Amino acid sequence: MIQAGTIQVNGRGHLEIGGCDTVDLVERYGTPLYVMDEELLRKNCRRFRNAMRQSYSRGQVIFAGKAFLVQAMARLVAEEGLGLDVVSGGELYTALKAGFPAEQIYFHGNNKSCTELEEAIDAGMGRIIVDSIMELEDIIALAKEKGKKVSVLLRLKPGVEAHTHEYIQTGQEDSKFGFALEDEALEGVRLTLSAPDQLELAGFHCHIGSQIFQVDPFRLAAQTMLQFMALVREKTGFVVSQLNMGGGLGIRYRNSDEPPSIETFVSNLATAVTNAAKENDFPPPELLLEPGRSICGEAGITLYRVGVIKDIPGIRRYVSVDGGMMDNIRPALYGADYEAVLANKADREGEKHVTVAGKACESGDIIINEAFLPAVEKGDLLAVFSTGAYCYSMASNYNRNPRPAVLFVRGGKARIVVRRESYENLVALDR
Ligand code: LLP
Repeated sequence: MIQAGTIQVNGRGHLEIGGCDTVDLVERYGTPLYVMDEELLRKNCRRFRNAMRQSYSRGQVIFAGKAFLVQAMARLVAEEGLGLDVVSGGELYTALKAGFPAEQIYFHGNNKSCTELEEAIDAGMGRIIVDSIMELEDIIALAKEKGKKVSVLLRLKPGVEAHTHEYIQTGQEDSKFGFALEDEALEGVRLTLSAPDQLELAGFHCHIGSQIFQVDPFRLAAQTMLQFMALVREKTGFVVSQLNMGGGLGIRYRNSDEPPSIETFVSNLATAVTNAAKENDFPPPELLLEPGRSICGEAGITLYRVGVIKDIPGIRRYVSVDGGMMDNIRPALYGADYEAVLANKADREGEKHVTVAGKACESGDIIINEAFLPAVEKGDLLAVFSTGAYCYSMASNYNRNPRPAVLFVRGGKARIVVRRESYENLVALDR
């Protein structure tokens, strides 16, 4: 069990989250079901903001919507005073529809279409994080056409390899994201500065990867970024004011995981930026961070109903549940590992390692290879922890499975923030 937020075992021996008994939640809302601890979501937003306030004079925290973005989440993030990072017209639309202030939205992506750029410029969103020369050219043309000036950050590849899964490493040289240092990045700077009526160069961005536990790669990235900022000043005389260090702080998926706390992470990063600025005799930039997973990951659990149990003598026991890779693609995509308990028998000790399988027509649809569970019976409820990030947002309708509902729970009350899809929804767009 991952002890996060309000998760605990209650007097009935059931798993509880947000003061709600998970067995009751399932009775009412069915399975599979994503349940998010609203208190923990809010607390994590506040911890980031406070940590930033305490360790750096000018800082801003921006939630990376790709981890989990629905309108209720956008509203929560706005209420907690964070900015929002979006990576598609769809995420932008969701945020605006939820009433998120456009000037607090940051637009990312390595291949934004002209339509998406236009939507962003029309909405008056805060900043576009530009990924390439071609995109700069598109923005200049659009801004000219609209007679608007757009504030941009250029995304750089600091050449840092973070210790994380290859698929979620992004700061290295061979990456589809960002400008390479130094020539390509300098070309981007010059192009930006050559269009002062259309573009304002606010600063630079980097994101070295995700689910990272070490602070060193961030420190290295901060040094490289500040060196480049100083180089830009030397070559062009222009002094940028913002540095966005991206997201990447890891969370606990297994009990053995020991990520640094939000406070340690922010304060170490802030120190690294302060020192790097000093070393380069550069004025300390405004510091932006874009956490995604570390805000919502541990706040979410997924509840499944156990169905078929199959013993393969001498090999393993398969325990199949009523969801799988369509609601959590991470084990199949990254070999991600999770902890689980039987939510209706949460007070019982584990007694056997079993393999938790999903219901998709794929042998690779395994949610947990080795889950240590008490005796499992058909009809039991399985709770998988730390599914609040990159599960709902990466969910699919594979095998025409409707996507689960998402609940926010708090103080013993549950509210549906995303309805369960129906079969009707599945065919709604078919012609
Ligand atoms: N900023 C940028 C520019 C990013 O690309 C990302 C994540 C973040 C911030 C937020 O990173 P976080 O704090 O969540 O680590 N689907 C993968 C993760 C992909 C991350 C993509 N970018 C997974 O499930 O592990």
